[in-house]
Amino acid sequence: MANLEEMLRGTLAPAFEAVAGIEVDPALRRSQHAHFQSDGALALARRLKSNPREIATRVLAEAELDDLCSDVEVSGPGFINITVSDEVLGRLLGRMNTDARLDVPKPQQTETVTVDYSAPNAAKEMHVGHLRSTIIGDAVVRLLEWQGHDVIRQNHIGEWGTPFGMLIEHLLDIGEAEAAKSLSVGDLNGFYQAARRKFDADDAFKDRARARVVKLQSGDPTTLRLWKILVEESKKYFLTVYDLLDVTLTADDFFGESFYNDQLQSVVDELDKLGLLRISEGAKCVFPEGFANRNGDPLPLIVQKSDGGFGYAATDLATIRRRLRDLHATRLLYVVGLPQAQHFAMIFQTAKDAGWLTPPARAEHIGHGSVLGEDGKILRTRAGASVKLVDLLREAVDRATAIIAEKNPDLDEETRAAVANAVGIGAVKYSDLSTDRTKDYVFDYDRMLSFDGNTAPYLQYARARICSIFRRAEVEPPRDLSEIIITEPAERTLALELLGFEGVLAQVEETLEFHRLAHYLYGLATAFTGFYEVCPVLKSEEPIRRSRLALCDLTARTLERGLDLLGIRTPDQM
Ligand code: ARG
Repeated sequence: MANLEEMLRGTLAPAFEAVAGIEVDPALRRSQHAHFQSDGALALARRLKSNPREIATRVLAEAELDDLCSDVEVSGPGFINITVSDEVLGRLLGRMNTDARLDVPKPQQTETVTVDYSAPNAAKEMHVGHLRSTIIGDAVVRLLEWQGHDVIRQNHIGEWGTPFGMLIEHLLDIGEAEAAKSLSVGDLNGFYQAARRKFDADDAFKDRARARVVKLQSGDPTTLRLWKILVEESKKYFLTVYDLLDVTLTADDFFGESFYNDQLQSVVDELDKLGLLRISEGAKCVFPEGFANRNGDPLPLIVQKSDGGFGYAATDLATIRRRLRDLHATRLLYVVGLPQAQHFAMIFQTAKDAGWLTPPARAEHIGHGSVLGEDGKILRTRAGASVKLVDLLREAVDRATAIIAEKNPDLDEETRAAVANAVGIGAVKYSDLSTDRTKDYVFDYDRMLSFDGNTAPYLQYARARICSIFRRAEVEPPRDLSEIIITEPAERTLALELLGFEGVLAQVEETLEFHRLAHYLYGLATAFTGFYEVCPVLKSEEPIRRSRLALCDLTARTLERGLDLLGIRTPDQM
């Protein structure tokens, strides 16, 4: 285990307990004054109404820190300052260096996790909201899979419901071949809007559309065949976007709304049998515990409408039941925008009330904010339409191409294209993942593509520079070196950063807050710059030279792994 913080906590916690007679959080954190600081004695002293310095001194007498630390002291009002010994840093780094997983252990208990993400709507352009869900969801999947969990991707596309009446009628009007053509090139907006215009303007069309919905729902074969054309063309198009965006969703991951059609009646029946259904204004509803409207009346979740139709909520009750009961997931993640927070809270509560969702299984809405334009409003085109995702991505790659061509004119064309792709797409993903996902952020090409600051290009470049050290000197990274030598302050700072990787991953696995990982990687790259400025690598004498080469390589590998978990590629030269 390279998790230094955990090791210290594991030593301090029993010492605190011995002194206090109860469990105490050592409140350990990285510190400016030493390597780590524990503030646990302060809170404990307040509770025991005694002197914090005295408590801290007693804790230190109990704690067996000699093997780990070169210095420990009580300071200020009762902080415990801890300086880890250079030997321990060197040994832990050595373990990290000789391990393909950078000494990050797999969790003792792995579990089955379903990740519901992306979920665009068929025959409708993917918008920036789906961009966030897709990027965040894919990072979730990559991290949990790397940690060893059994991850099942669920792309809950919207391909069922009333809009399909008008879409099918429009398809018939323009002809199947023509419709397939416009959908497969990704003109989903054009197709949808044309249908919508007719629906709004033409009563006869409206009637046809409504009749078509009834036929679709009753399973009329011709209607289903036409519906399938719309859905299949949309899926093909979504897959091209996933390819461009370099996300891991495949054709096998589509489990859209229609997949649940034949499970909806049984959801109703089961809730009915459990006595959870009540009729409200003709509709069959559940009233999950703890939800009320403004007047304090219980809030209904409509399971079946008065006309017998099922909606979004019924389908999500089916998703949660299936994921628990058939897929045996114990962690159910729904990566969807925050406006749907109440919907999911009500679904989860209903699943608990029904006895489907019981510990250790848990469901989490991984909510996210919106992508804004420079005007601070939801990102739109000048004409006010929602922005086409592919256009956004292509523009990022085009701009990256220009930047790379200028920075490194010697790259051959093929390499340049690959680098520009990694930088352009990486920049879009990183600017999303490096902001707190519950917040909105402004989409800004110049900022995300900058080579300075907390951006993908900065981190990619930091790693590529390390690669070039090895390339130019024609040396191999010393991956068999199991003892790193730490003597300089800048080495110590870098060592502590590197050893923080496991801890940050554990945190992100729990919270799915990827900005913590992004922040970590930025801190690591900065610490590396500090090290490289003052510590000669190739020019130093053995055994320092090999040790520093290992520090360079470890930094590059950690950056590479971290960015890979965010779904971002790392070119060896840029
Ligand atoms: N298609 C939906 C939308 O565009 C998102 C679906 C999210 N997943 C789910 N299981 N409800 O808003």
